[in-house]
Amino acid sequence: MMGDQNNGRGEAVPTFPLNAWYAAAWSQEVGRRQPLARTVCNKSMVFWRKSDGSIAALEDACWHRLLPLSMGQLDGDDIVCHYHGLTFDGTGRCVRIPSQDKLIKSACVRSYPVVDRYRFVWVWPGDPDLADPALIPDMHWNDDPEWEGDGQTMFAKCDYRLFVDNLMDLTHESFVHATSIGNEHVAEAPMDTTQDGRTVTSTRWTLNIDAPPFWRAQLGRPGNVDRWQIIRFEAPCTIVLDVGVAMTGTGAFEGDRSDGVNGRVLNTITPETDGTCMYFWSLVRNYRLRDQSLTTQLRDANANIFVEDQVVVEAQQKTIDENPDLVLRSLNIDAGSVWARRIIEEMIAAEEKTAS
Ligand code: FES
Ligand SMILES: [Fe+2]
Repeated sequence: MMGDQNNGRGEAVPTFPLNAWYAAAWSQEVGRRQPLARTVCNKSMVFWRKSDGSIAALEDACWHRLLPLSMGQLDGDDIVCHYHGLTFDGTGRCVRIPSQDKLIKSACVRSYPVVDRYRFVWVWPGDPDLADPALIPDMHWNDDPEWEGDGQTMFAKCDYRLFVDNLMDLTHESFVHATSIGNEHVAEAPMDTTQDGRTVTSTRWTLNIDAPPFWRAQLGRPGNVDRWQIIRFEAPCTIVLDVGVAMTGTGAFEGDRSDGVNGRVLNTITPETDGTCMYFWSLVRNYRLRDQSLTTQLRDANANIFVEDQVVVEAQQKTIDENPDLVLRSLNIDAGSVWARRIIEEMIAAEEKTAS
């Protein structure tokens, strides 16, 4: 079933495109011993890893009596249904029926295109012919040896787009994160927002300022800094924050960041259903590599900050569910998310057109 939401005029509107790559799991969550069940775009899926290291992704329903295959067991590269033992290979073909000798050619379970990249398992819930791995969102920092960090998954009870809105607007830091990372200047500094195809970029440079406490500690020395916050949205649901500071006047704004410290906050928010999502995030840096205690400290601090966002978006969702006639409104600070939502809508409209 396509993701639907009432648009206030009684018409059902999909909330996400199906022709896109979505993160379904961290790479290490998909192994050779146990199948993993996940829901992506209202579709129940089962994942496991085969002996050559590649991943299988099937619809999580046995061809026979529809028991979720994820309740079954792995047998080498195949999955065995828990009910009557029908066995399927990674392409979804039935390779064994214990109760009879003859196989049935049409006994197939739908398989999904799947790629293991940047420490995430990406799945394509739409038309498999369109599943070009070149369209996987750029999150290469996650397994680039020049960068180091770690992250988590947040399972949240909200439309994934509320997180897109949240990440495209950093002015909320001053309020939602007032006691953690916020300071009043964030809400004041202007951002420059541009769109290019399926990406939206919001850029803010603050030059020659006293470093905020977090960045001062990362930098480890005194002196004024130039600070950047560059938010890049890649449709439909990936947002990379490029953040850092460099000593003032050392050319960071012009492109030489070598006299500074740089981090990336990698975010990809997969719709599970219309009202729930899986938010995969990772915090990586290009300094103090192989410092595991710093990695853990930054990850845990960030996890606490993101809980502050979760409280907000889940409360928004509750209001939306209880008041289907109310609408979200936009201010200047929402320029980035307005662009982002427009691109998502265009992707959905293009699919609807092809389908009709
Ligand atoms: S339901 Fe799977 S084998 Fe019968
Ligand atoms: Fe936040």
